[in-house]
Amino acid sequence: MPNHTEIYKHKAETYYKLISKQNNLVYTIEKIRPIKGLDIVDLGAGTGRLASVLAEEAKSIIALDASQEMLNITKKRLKKAGFTNWKTIVSDLRKLPLQDQSADLVVAGWSICYLGSENNPYWEQDIYKVIKEMKRVLRSNGTIIIFETHGTGVTSPAPPDFLKKYYTALVDDYGFSHQCIRLDYTFDHINQAEELTRFFFGNDLADKVVRENLVQLPECARFCGCKYN
Ligand SMILES: C[S@@+](CC[C@H](N)C(=O)[O-])C[C@H]1O[C@@H](n2cnc3c(N)ncnc32)[C@H](O)[C@@H]1O
Repeated sequence: MPNHTEIYKHKAETYYKLISKQNNLVYTIEKIRPIKGLDIVDLGAGTGRLASVLAEEAKSIIALDASQEMLNITKKRLKKAGFTNWKTIVSDLRKLPLQDQSADLVVAGWSICYLGSENNPYWEQDIYKVIKEMKRVLRSNGTIIIFETHGTGVTSPAPPDFLKKYYTALVDDYGFSHQCIRLDYTFDHINQAEELTRFFFGNDLADKVVRENLVQLPECARFCGCKYN
């Protein structure tokens, strides 16, 4: 399996190329919380998948990530689109450099899972810290939306074993509701599908992509929503 920390530090452009093959999630978010006029925080914003589509309607958006290299792409995208209502901050999700009750909506896409993985011996404490921080920065009636994987290369939800306890905790301990959606990749051609899946998901999936000619690669995602305060 490729080293994702290395990817977020040295191969941000290729990550961006990969996720640009998936659909825009703005309509999914809008259904949970209409975004017009909201102060929004994007945790683990990466190359700006969520921040770049939320910026148009948001009052303000703060994109946080541990990787400056990933945020550089977010910056470039937001500047190019002409938005001025944003800032980026390099920060860890467990300690947010944000004021209490300063946001209406906190989103986190495929980022908290790195702390919630059972491979992290402190996953329970870390998830507690992240959720506590999210609640602290939210205003009353604020909303949290978390996106995570339910499997790539599968057509029905198949959460990875090492994330199952974290997903259960979101529902049972923190009161999130959840739903699964398809978030397939539509690649331009099979060589690109192979190159980008090998880059991020590793050889097993890339070999399957080639074997089954998966120019359209299925993915299941799960989003969890919760209102606090
Ligand atoms: C899979 S990418 C997701 C990026 C973006 N949200 C998206 O949907 O494409 C995961 C991101 O989470 C960030 N990340 C992981 N752990 C983090 C932590 N503890 N604090 C801050 N950022 C973190 C990584 O640097 C990376 O940019």
